[in-house]
Amino acid sequence: AYEKIWLAASVLLILFLLGSVTYGAVGPGVAMVSDTEQTIDPGALDETDRFSEPRVEQVGENEYEAYVVARQYGFQPTPIVVPANSTVTFYVTSADVTHGFEVAGTNLNTMVIPGEVSEITVETDGPAEYGIVCNEYCGAGHHVMQGNLEVV
Ligand code: CUA
Repeated sequence: AYEKIWLAASVLLILFLLGSVTYGAVGPGVAMVSDTEQTIDPGALDETDRFSEPRVEQVGENEYEAYVVARQYGFQPTPIVVPANSTVTFYVTSADVTHGFEVAGTNLNTMVIPGEVSEITVETDGPAEYGIVCNEYCGAGHHVMQGNLEVV
């Protein structure tokens, strides 16, 4: 019986830690407000409206959508340019293997899994430049996989 209690406590602790990572710290400039996932065929990104041309699109008065593709070993578009003081929803997917998409110094951070679209909505603050790093090992070039986010 003790083992079950211990196991339950461990699961609760893990869930708590995951929750803290997802909803906890708010980084300077970019604050995450939602994070969901959809599915997609990683081999056919070029045939999709969203990912055939990775880009940032204006979709409302102060709302933007960023379609980002991660592949060995970089992110497109690069740089990712979004306006300051706006709402930006990132849709991030992979063309090959599992990557990470972490905007350094913020809580904008997600795994990028082939076949899935990670959706993250953030509120941008004033102008700033951020580095983007891949934080999941993805092959020989993992350590050089990076990008840039410019809030202008
Ligand atoms: Cu991509 Cu590590």
